[in-house]
Amino acid sequence: MALLEVRGVTKSFRSLRALEGVDIDVREGTFHGLIGPNGSGKSTLLKAIAGDHFADSGSIVFDGRDITRATPYERARAGISLKFQITAVLPELSVYDNVLLAAQSGETLPRLLFSASRKALDAEVGGLLERFRLTGRADDLAGELSHGEKQWLEIAMALALRPKLLLLDEPTGGMSPEERRVTGRLLAPIKSHCTLIIVEHDLNFIRDICDELTVLDQGNVLDRGDVETIQRSSKVQQVFTTRV
Ligand SMILES: Nc1ncnc2c1ncn2[C@@H]1O[C@H](COP(=O)(O)OP(=O)(O)O)[C@@H](O)[C@H]1O
Ligand SMILES: [Mg+2]
Repeated sequence: MALLEVRGVTKSFRSLRALEGVDIDVREGTFHGLIGPNGSGKSTLLKAIAGDHFADSGSIVFDGRDITRATPYERARAGISLKFQITAVLPELSVYDNVLLAAQSGETLPRLLFSASRKALDAEVGGLLERFRLTGRADDLAGELSHGEKQWLEIAMALALRPKLLLLDEPTGGMSPEERRVTGRLLAPIKSHCTLIIVEHDLNFIRDICDELTVLDQGNVLDRGDVETIQRSSKVQQVFTTRV
């Protein structure tokens, strides 16, 4: 059974049908890329999974549990983390404190009152900063980070909640080619403990890190499969050459 099963999800904004019956299966331990032209419904689908939008119809089953009507908070507790959803970067706090706050939001109050838990959190925050190349910036204000570093901080914060499923919507937007390459290298190791759905425009980036792809077009799944299958798909080629 897949970690995430999306079945027949529709979502309309007044007369506009942003999602028209989308099915997606995401297996545990895979990186799943979501691609498609602008306005094809990629962000709406991520929000429907995270609970920022409720699907008008269809169902979403996560980790064996029907979360179709669950609140964003309940979905976060169940293990779904959308970058931006829980905590956006607080520019007046240090980089360290931003990650600490995110990590604490995943803890219960009784646990926070024990110093052992604080030590564990400190080790976890330190580990995340190191993995996302932010150790040297731990004491700097988050507002002073470069654009790329801010993106990495936000990913570190999303991971501080120890999600089973991480949702990233165009994390490399505005990054330099070198920062994109680094982002791919930073994300690769999380596969051992976290499944990923990532929306990306950069098809080279997607090809390098994703196991499977779903292609959306005008709110419908145009095609799905592994990277080779999608690269060979004439339907996909047609949409990408005529509309992207
Ligand atoms: N909150 C909203 N209110 C009204 N229309 C929206 C809203 N969010 C998205 N849309 C519309 O839904 C369609 C899909 O949008 P979106 O999911 O953002 O596409 P993508 O992320 O693939 O570019 C677009 O036509 C967009 O204008
Ligand atoms: Mg979008």
